[in-house]
Amino acid sequence: MTDAKPFSWEYRPGTTTRETFHITGGKPLAGSVRVSGAKNSALKLMAAATLTGERVSLENVPGLLDIDVLSETLNDLGVQISRPAPGRLDLHAANVDWLFVPLEAAAKMRASFMLLGPLLARFGQVIISNPGGDRIGRRPVNLHVDAMRALGAEIDYRDGYYFAKSPGRLIGARITFPQVTVMGTENAMLAAVLARGTTIIQPAAQEPEVDDLIALLNKMGAQVARTAPDVIEVQGVASLSGATHQVIPDRIEAGTFAAAAAVIGGDVAIRGVEPTHMGAFLALMTQLGVEHHIEPDPEDATRKTLRVVGLAPGAGDYQPAEVRTAPYPGLPTDIQPPAGLMLTRANGASMIHETIFEDRLEWLSGLRAFGAQVEVLDPRTARVTGPTRFSPGEAEIPDLRAGATLVLAALAAPGSSQIHGAHHVRRGYATIEEKFRGLGADMTHVSEEAG
Ligand code: UD1
Repeated sequence: MTDAKPFSWEYRPGTTTRETFHITGGKPLAGSVRVSGAKNSALKLMAAATLTGERVSLENVPGLLDIDVLSETLNDLGVQISRPAPGRLDLHAANVDWLFVPLEAAAKMRASFMLLGPLLARFGQVIISNPGGDRIGRRPVNLHVDAMRALGAEIDYRDGYYFAKSPGRLIGARITFPQVTVMGTENAMLAAVLARGTTIIQPAAQEPEVDDLIALLNKMGAQVARTAPDVIEVQGVASLSGATHQVIPDRIEAGTFAAAAAVIGGDVAIRGVEPTHMGAFLALMTQLGVEHHIEPDPEDATRKTLRVVGLAPGAGDYQPAEVRTAPYPGLPTDIQPPAGLMLTRANGASMIHETIFEDRLEWLSGLRAFGAQVEVLDPRTARVTGPTRFSPGEAEIPDLRAGATLVLAALAAPGSSQIHGAHHVRRGYATIEEKFRGLGADMTHVSEEAG
């Protein structure tokens, strides 16, 4: 098992296809776009469906590669999955007969590790690959494992796999994380809902996706409450039932389209958003001086429209600002690249401080290909000096969020650009080229034979 070649999106056995966005930029955006359901919520809701033998129906599930990857993994475990309507995913985990999540699944997507808590809690055992196999480091899962141990699980680690078991039901406990962790909090909740007794998680992550998971779990019969902003209390129950739930809007996708309007210029109505989930990002736009308005959503009374009126290049500049990421309610690290891109349109020097991950400023080097002035001062700090007049270029996408941001830079650059590695973007942005085309952008997605 240790010899298995780690899966990477670059390594595609049997194919030499590479996916490229061809973009002719420099046109202001106009029109409206509807955001999809949140990827980082949908994946955890899918994991929650394994907690019951009854059917869980999810609505507003985004059409993303990551959702397909987790569907396949669940399917291999014996979960029946169907898509009876667009955006709807029905999961039925009545016959889970395979409690093994292989490296091939885990390495493709870190969120596969979300199956640890629910499978352990419901079936008393699971063997699950470390996401990334033996390459422990950059994004460890130690906090997830410690949380399961606190609940009474026995966990051994051998050859890149966690062998987890619980002789009887898990036992409620106090879980104290040394730092805030989103998926760690979620995995702990997914295990604690079926434990005997009370579990208290502190500090618990405050991201809206965590609350979306709490909402589904409670519909399934769990007893989970956020008793303080950073405290979650779970009263374990013996079993859970089926439920129907609608995934919250993707605040990162919404922010990406808002940044697009700010950077490229134009007037864009971003529909189906939940502005209360976007406070730090909206505050940043205010600080930069990007005109934006919260308006009703004409099709959905429960949601809003975020309208962003961006300055056309040459029509003025924004104010310099500081982009500093932090756990929710701070500015999300996932929005750091699009937020950082907005700084290129500010007159003067702005700073980016990435406080969550060490490797999230790499996208800035790709941005230089489009004429931006950026200096990475250390792995967590960068200076962006504007205003930039974007020029067309060619770049290779290193990861999901960076990829979307390079697309934005290309859309801002008058002329023809190519962005390779488009599959990264499809992991997190549903039909991104169609959505940008709907806003008047000239963008196509081509699969090419490489070499
Ligand atoms: C989730 C999101 C990701 C987002 C991140 C931070 C999903 C599928 N992914 O990732 O898009 O960027 O939150 O908002 O929801 N850490 C440890 N040990 C652990 C777990 C985490 O040291 O066991 C560290 C991480 O290396 C990082 C910090 O804790 O420095 C926060 O990471 P965490 O909140 O756990 O991120 P994820 O839940 O993996």
